[in-house]
Amino acid sequence: MELDTYIRALPKAELHLHIEGTLEPELMFRLAARNQVALPWASVEQTRAAYDFTDLQSFLDLYYAGAAALIHEQDFHELAMAYFARAHADGVVHAELFFDPQTHTSRGVAFDTVLSGLERACAEAHARYGISSRLILCFLRHLSAEDSYAMLEQALPHLARFHGVGLDSSEKGHPPSKFARLFARCRELGLHIVAHAGEEGPPAYIVEALDILKVERIDHGVRAAEDPALMQRLAREQVPLTVCPLSNIRLCVFPTLAQHNLRALLDAGLKVTINSDDPAYFGGYVAKNYLDTALALSLTRAELKRIARNSLDAAFVDEATRAPWLTRLAAVPD
Ligand code: ADE
Ligand code: ZN
Repeated sequence: MELDTYIRALPKAELHLHIEGTLEPELMFRLAARNQVALPWASVEQTRAAYDFTDLQSFLDLYYAGAAALIHEQDFHELAMAYFARAHADGVVHAELFFDPQTHTSRGVAFDTVLSGLERACAEAHARYGISSRLILCFLRHLSAEDSYAMLEQALPHLARFHGVGLDSSEKGHPPSKFARLFARCRELGLHIVAHAGEEGPPAYIVEALDILKVERIDHGVRAAEDPALMQRLAREQVPLTVCPLSNIRLCVFPTLAQHNLRALLDAGLKVTINSDDPAYFGGYVAKNYLDTALALSLTRAELKRIARNSLDAAFVDEATRAPWLTRLAAVPD
């Protein structure tokens, strides 16, 4: 079996996926025309040509500009349905979708509009593809803690409609500790907790995410490798890391995929998963992340299977939901 076919045959969960980051330029232009929103680019080709990032911020500037095309409930529905079709083709059985409501409410788009469109897509994806999903509300860390608190207030009447909260956007200068009180409140509300940490920020931000926010998974976390004590802790506690290899290359966290530290993390016994982050911007959905990483780092089929297993283990689902996936995975040969 070809490696690409093998990877798609592995039942896997995608745990680090910004739904706004799945907005392909074609859909962006279609929505912008339909909604009479001006984009900073003249064409689909010019848009793709602009995706030449130097760091996280240079990407975020374009990502927020593109998200302006999303206005109506059906826009969010179409966006998520396009993602689910690709995820299904890649062998994803479960997806946990990040969404950034502050990006939309700041433009006058109601929280309920965003959530309704995504929710309808999640239900449709389950019916059409058998993919289960969760929604994770991400707070934008470049904004103030007061802003995020106001966002949470708005979200409170809809608490049953999302499963967890995360922390994303510009990492450097915005440590997890800035949001200590917010996340304490989210924990009291019974929400699952994750946070981006150690993508561009130092290992100390990963420690803060663990100790102050009390996250259940670390999004990215690759800079943990700079701190041996933290590496030992992540291995001992089996904290899942949602690593996004193609994202890390496109945002210049590592110069090339061959120099990515995913193999080192894996060899140190960390619970590594592979995810796509913002696939419309970074040149590949989850199966391509697995494949390109496998080729660059000589990952064996057994290692790819272990990574898929980690993703199923780290999903926010009950054991009855997880069990049939594990049975299916076990049936795939090494
Ligand atoms: N928002 C979307 N993608 C992100 C990333 N890779 N890091 C931080 N914030 C993001
Ligand atoms: Zn991310």
